[in-house]
Amino acid sequence: MMARYTLYLAVALWLAILAGLKYLIHPPMPASVLMIYMTLSTLGILLFVAADEARFQAFLAPLKSVFEGRAPLAAQVLVLAGIPLLLGWGAWLRTAPTWDAPFEPRVVHPEPPSSFSLHGRRIETANLKNPLRLPDPVQLEKYTQEGKTIYYQNCFFCHGDALAGDGHFANAFSPIPANFRDVGTISMLQESFVFWRVATGGPGLPKGATPWLSAMPVWQNLLTEEEIWKAILYIYAGSGSTPRTWDEEAGHEKH
Ligand code: HEC
Repeated sequence: MMARYTLYLAVALWLAILAGLKYLIHPPMPASVLMIYMTLSTLGILLFVAADEARFQAFLAPLKSVFEGRAPLAAQVLVLAGIPLLLGWGAWLRTAPTWDAPFEPRVVHPEPPSSFSLHGRRIETANLKNPLRLPDPVQLEKYTQEGKTIYYQNCFFCHGDALAGDGHFANAFSPIPANFRDVGTISMLQESFVFWRVATGGPGLPKGATPWLSAMPVWQNLLTEEEIWKAILYIYAGSGSTPRTWDEEAGHEKH
């Protein structure tokens, strides 16, 4: 009596396994693993159906009646037009173009150029030193305080009032402004690198490090060289970090 439904039962079982694997298992399994399970399930069901001659004939009967033209017209249309359409739709889904933005990896700290232009002069990046990082603590404190004023007049809108990269405008930009409290930003950079970045901003980033859509302004157009160095003194002092130096790297101090 069940024989009439063998094909439908097999299909229902197959769909139940698919639904169970897809929706009941958490976390969801990768598509490739699902594919393996479904291939094994398909083989298992077919093997079970084919193991018994009578069962196999019962399984084939509805298919035969469609292909031999004995089934009702609606069933024939459904199978003969429906299956090719379904396969075609699947193929289209897989090849259709998508509108997702492409994944763009980004070099956060690209190699700086060996020289760059500052107010029309050529500057060697390697030779740059902060001329205001003076040994005299009183002088240093004075420049740092001036740098603080420069920071709050120019930088905090983006880099935040606590230098954590979360200023008012921060969320409007991608990439977001640098968080100076993060160990991955200025504390791992030399001041020469930081000066180059501040002076030339987003547009100064090398082509090789694209895609860079940095909103970081070109500060040499707005600040003097001295003002940039003062701002740099402050972003280190204010974030509680120190610039990276070659002396430290060699493991000995030389002051
Ligand atoms: C319009 C928003 C904006 C303003 C204003 C701004 N910045 Fe930025 N800044 C950014 C963005 C966005 C980044 C991250 C992308 C990049 O590195 O260019 C950044 C990156 C930096 C970096 C690089 C840090 C690193 O780890 O590579 C430094 C240094 C920096 N800013 C300093 C400053 C200073 C100093 C000022 C003020 C004189 C300032 N910024 C003002 C948007 C801004």
